[in-house]
Amino acid sequence: MLGVCYYPEHWPRERWAEDARRMRECGLTYVRIGEFAWSRLEPEPGLFDFEWLDIALETLGKEGLKIVLGTPTPTPPKWLVDKYPDILAYDREGRVRNFGSRRHYTFSSETYRLETRRMVTALAQRYGQNPVVAGWQTDNEYGCHDTTRSYGPEDAKAFRAWLEVKYGHIQALNAAWGNVFWSMEYRHFGEIDLPNLAVTEANPSAWLDFYRFSSDQVAAYNQLQVEILRAHSPGRFIAHNFMGFVTDFDHFKVAQDLDVSSWDSYPLGFTDSRMPGLSDTERVFYARSGHPDVSAFHHDLYRGVKARWWVMEQQPGPVNWAYHNPSPAPGMVRLWTWEALAHGAEVVSYFRWRQFPQAQEQMHAGLNRPDFRPDVGYSEAQQVAQELQKISLPDTSKARVALVYDYEADWLYSIQPQGYSWDYTSLALNFYRALRSLGLDVDFVKPGGSLEGYALVVVPSTPIVRDATFEVFKSAMGTTVFGPRTDSKTESLNIPANLPPGKLGQLIPIKVARVESLRPGLSTTVTWEGGQYQTSVWREWVESDPQPLGGAVATPTATFEDGKGAVWQSENRHYLAFWPTQEFLTNYLGKLAQAAGIQTHALPEGLRLRRRGNLTFAFNYTADPRPLNVPEGAKLVLGNRVVEPYGVAVWKG
Ligand code: GAL
Repeated sequence: MLGVCYYPEHWPRERWAEDARRMRECGLTYVRIGEFAWSRLEPEPGLFDFEWLDIALETLGKEGLKIVLGTPTPTPPKWLVDKYPDILAYDREGRVRNFGSRRHYTFSSETYRLETRRMVTALAQRYGQNPVVAGWQTDNEYGCHDTTRSYGPEDAKAFRAWLEVKYGHIQALNAAWGNVFWSMEYRHFGEIDLPNLAVTEANPSAWLDFYRFSSDQVAAYNQLQVEILRAHSPGRFIAHNFMGFVTDFDHFKVAQDLDVSSWDSYPLGFTDSRMPGLSDTERVFYARSGHPDVSAFHHDLYRGVKARWWVMEQQPGPVNWAYHNPSPAPGMVRLWTWEALAHGAEVVSYFRWRQFPQAQEQMHAGLNRPDFRPDVGYSEAQQVAQELQKISLPDTSKARVALVYDYEADWLYSIQPQGYSWDYTSLALNFYRALRSLGLDVDFVKPGGSLEGYALVVVPSTPIVRDATFEVFKSAMGTTVFGPRTDSKTESLNIPANLPPGKLGQLIPIKVARVESLRPGLSTTVTWEGGQYQTSVWREWVESDPQPLGGAVATPTATFEDGKGAVWQSENRHYLAFWPTQEFLTNYLGKLAQAAGIQTHALPEGLRLRRRGNLTFAFNYTADPRPLNVPEGAKLVLGNRVVEPYGVAVWKG
């Protein structure tokens, strides 16, 4: 269940056999290889050199290792860029993004699609039936370095074509976007520019379509690669390695074409520099362990994206790209590996085998040091491999709680936040962290995905509720909690005619008459069951609908200081008319969970639980021992009843 990322092209050939032997000794099974190697695979236009890769695969195969072969498309070589400059991406300021690092292509380039087809076909023909090749990785980290959206001539051309397919007639687009405003009307699709260089904010409806288009371009590009690989490499799985906190494209859509979703987990880098909503104190407290929910959030997200999922890159030591790059506490590489497995990962693969002493990532640790000796990560990976010999992992079962995760919400709110502090990921994390602090397992579901069998459903915020999604909400049997701004926009990013929540008003008969955003320091108080909760960011004025459909009634269960309703309930559906803090959610969702018959736990700081089949895992993200409430009769299969600092315990039953 363990693997490693390896770059034979970085090391002398004489090393390869020993590397392969030591990978096996460490207990590794999979080796991901090749995803940046275009300049070595095709050093001159049309002149392929597969000899080195043949030998590398053979050498690894001799030790029984299985290969995940990456297509080298994130790094088109210099000759290709010089020959076809139209493949380059443009930034939001309209500047070319040049050769010299990676991901310097736009998904919209027809030329790059042809070049991709040529390279992927050559690779798939050569290795598609190779017995050591177990699977493929398409490209590497779509969207990394802000590359989902590009603003060049190729992009404008493709965007116009996309709009024409969507709207058919220019008048339909003008009407949907409200282009009568500020004389923005177009006479034909050829007149439309990208929205990036307007004097002040461009029409939010235009932006949203551009974001949707950019997301579709990623899916189409991935599909192109998948089709070639499927044709030439039957029986092998196809994966892509997604990222943490990258939401610029719809991962559910891209993954429709994949067999395995995987992601790249760097808990310390994320805790230091990427995870929103943490105080400085929390960033320091978890600097060497990673925040206890940062990996779990993504494990659950990518398991929702595809039932089969991997961690394709696991942080092995200090990295190089965060604001600060501390060393993990002893034990953390082991803990992170077990945490991924507890969440249902098929394989955890470390990045990378050995630290490379040159170029951009020379300060990034590997399982081995640049002097060829094992680093700390090596022994912790080996320890997990040995522990795995003794524990057989059951299948992951369905959780009782679902979180509806919406990429489009993230795009819409980044286009129209209406208040600087509004951030979709922060809101989703507030819900998720509250549920995890109650010791609950959570499944992620896309909008419109089945909610059957869940006792509790949370919808942090889904601003556009399409008919299919509405039907799912309508038929959901579990208690459902909708966050603020849910169903507040139409498909074209207009305010619904009957005021928000547009369709949901049929289920919870309320109208949102006014909204406001609140700067830090400006807050309001929500009172619920005698408790008072300070909240900032967002507040809504909600009226009960004077003419409700079907006789449903909505009543406030919590109030603002002016006495108006802050939470509205209609049967088993709840609507939150404010930005819910984690503290409020822990109490509110805790009560709803118990009422729905779900057992909750009061976990101490830094302790987390996760079940996989009949096994329960406990993770201690702190430097202090944490006692556990292991149920009577349960049998410990790993660790102790007091979980050691940065330790893991597992029990059965
Ligand atoms: C990932 C990427 C790898 C490497 C790594 C460093 O985002 O896929 O190629 O750059 O980060 O942490």
